[in-house]
Amino acid sequence: MAAEDRAGGLRSDDDAVAADADRFAADRDVWDDLAEFHGTGPGDRSDDVEAFLAGRQTLRGIERELAGDVTGKELLHLHCRFGVDTLNWARLGARVTGVDFSPEAIARAQRLAERAGLEAEFVEADAQRLPDGLAARFDLVVATYGVLSWIGDLDAWMTGAASALRPGGRLVLVDPHPVFQTVLTFDPFVADRPHGGGAPQHDAMTGTDAHADVPAEPKKSTRSPYSLGEIVRAATSAGLVVERLGEHTETEADGRHLLPQGRDGLYRFPFSNTYLPILYSLRAVRPSAPGGA
Ligand SMILES: C[S@@+](CC[C@H](N)C(=O)[O-])C[C@H]1O[C@@H](n2cnc3c(N)ncnc32)[C@H](O)[C@@H]1O
Repeated sequence: MAAEDRAGGLRSDDDAVAADADRFAADRDVWDDLAEFHGTGPGDRSDDVEAFLAGRQTLRGIERELAGDVTGKELLHLHCRFGVDTLNWARLGARVTGVDFSPEAIARAQRLAERAGLEAEFVEADAQRLPDGLAARFDLVVATYGVLSWIGDLDAWMTGAASALRPGGRLVLVDPHPVFQTVLTFDPFVADRPHGGGAPQHDAMTGTDAHADVPAEPKKSTRSPYSLGEIVRAATSAGLVVERLGEHTETEADGRHLLPQGRDGLYRFPFSNTYLPILYSLRAVRPSAPGGA
């Protein structure tokens, strides 16, 4: 049987399964490398583990405001990397579970929880195929700053996130804005990446600015751009009711190291006489009863 892929070409079901498996393995290989290096050297700008152990709060205002008081709440953190943000939710009083597909990240997260003396469960899993044991357990599912572009099957991701929530539970998602994701370089200004559509974009990642010693050998990775419309549609198709949708023109950290930093320390995306959005945020609730929130 042949199916049309998002780029409009025809591919057999077997080809599609093989391509998804290749993408998963290649992306996980890249993230295993990064999980090994992030936060381990003096050149690391964003993952200062010692500062975290000394009590540094890494969660930003956007997700904290959307999540509200997390005291005593069961919180699932998707794409948790090596657990710094997950453990900071625990410091705020949540009972946390972190999920990531990188075994290296999960092993580091478990060690970090021990060092920090914080309770947390870390699970190695594909966020597009969450284990049944996580179903209907959580008051909050949180995913932030580098999430959906790694996902080939947006509907599977949203359905998993929705299924992990208890009735009345909420999804909090904060991610780079689709408009910002079209930008390749800011100076000179080049915005030639696709806006939405989900078609896989192949990249060769050589590492990250966060650490100068990440292996120089380029590794294949794949991104999928989704528009806000596509993300909201996926959330509602998964049975969630969108309560808040925000577009944010300033941020405390620019993970892509593209944007100019203002005197107030914030990063903005100047464009003509205005600022374009850098991040979007979405909060959606799993209704308690069919059709109602
Ligand atoms: C940019 S990082 C997210 C950073 C995160 N906000 C944090 O708290 O550190 C992306 C993370 O997504 C994970 N990831 C990518 N694809 C995934 C998938 N299909 N399932 C689970 N985790 C995935 C990577 O291993 C990586 O840790």
